[in-house]
Amino acid sequence: MSDDPMKDPAERLMVALDLPTADEALRMVDSLGNIVRWFKVGSQLFTACGPDIVIKIKGMGFKVFLDLKFHDIPTTVSLAGVSAAKLGVDMFNVHSMGGTRMMSKTVSGVSDFCADKGLKRPIIIAVTALTSMTGPDLNEIGIGGQAADAVKNLAGLAKNSGLDGVVASPEEVAMIKDACGEGFVVVTPGVRPVWAERDDQARAQTPFGAIRNGSDYLVVGRPILKAQHPADAAQRTLDEIAAAL
Ligand code: C5P
Repeated sequence: MSDDPMKDPAERLMVALDLPTADEALRMVDSLGNIVRWFKVGSQLFTACGPDIVIKIKGMGFKVFLDLKFHDIPTTVSLAGVSAAKLGVDMFNVHSMGGTRMMSKTVSGVSDFCADKGLKRPIIIAVTALTSMTGPDLNEIGIGGQAADAVKNLAGLAKNSGLDGVVASPEEVAMIKDACGEGFVVVTPGVRPVWAERDDQARAQTPFGAIRNGSDYLVVGRPILKAQHPADAAQRTLDEIAAAL
């Protein structure tokens, strides 16, 4: 096995714990825990259970991506980022539409805090355009042109603000890596194995396709959570990732 941890399929899969209660989330973590390393805690679970759920999952030895898409004035987002770092999350995100001042203040605030406390700084990424949104959805909120152009512009703002990467659709990875560099992390939801429903993901791709496009981390929720046997679905997803690596 290579020394590069990113060659390990388990390092590349994040299971979105989009569940209503701590009990259900922790049961899911238990049933996937032998094969999955990263869990994503988003607004549904966090609003229901609060920071305790993050502390519990971290305490069980897993990595956590806190997906709360912070979008507020620069000071508030920077301090929310510090709170996320205090919780020990490995990754969190902000919304790129908050602008460069907001994003840079968050990176500097969290970096200073972590340096001061001797903590590893979480990976900080920005949401570009939600993967459920198509061109017309973006047009109606005043973002003209194609979704891809908006994503490229927002990814550039994130990069210039010192963020580590972005969340984007698998179809946009190559364009983002081209514009922002290979080392700029791209996390892709909107991943649908061939055997799964698309649900409300408009710009989706298979795990194999997403990895081949250069995606660093794949976020998968419903195809695993709603499967009759979630551990089997996770294993099949990991097998597809392994085939692409
Ligand atoms: O169930 P599914 O695989 O569609 O879950 C995708 C997850 O990724 C959800 O938790 C959703 O909130 C999140 N997400 C997304 N698109 C983004 C950012 C996050 O779908 N741009």
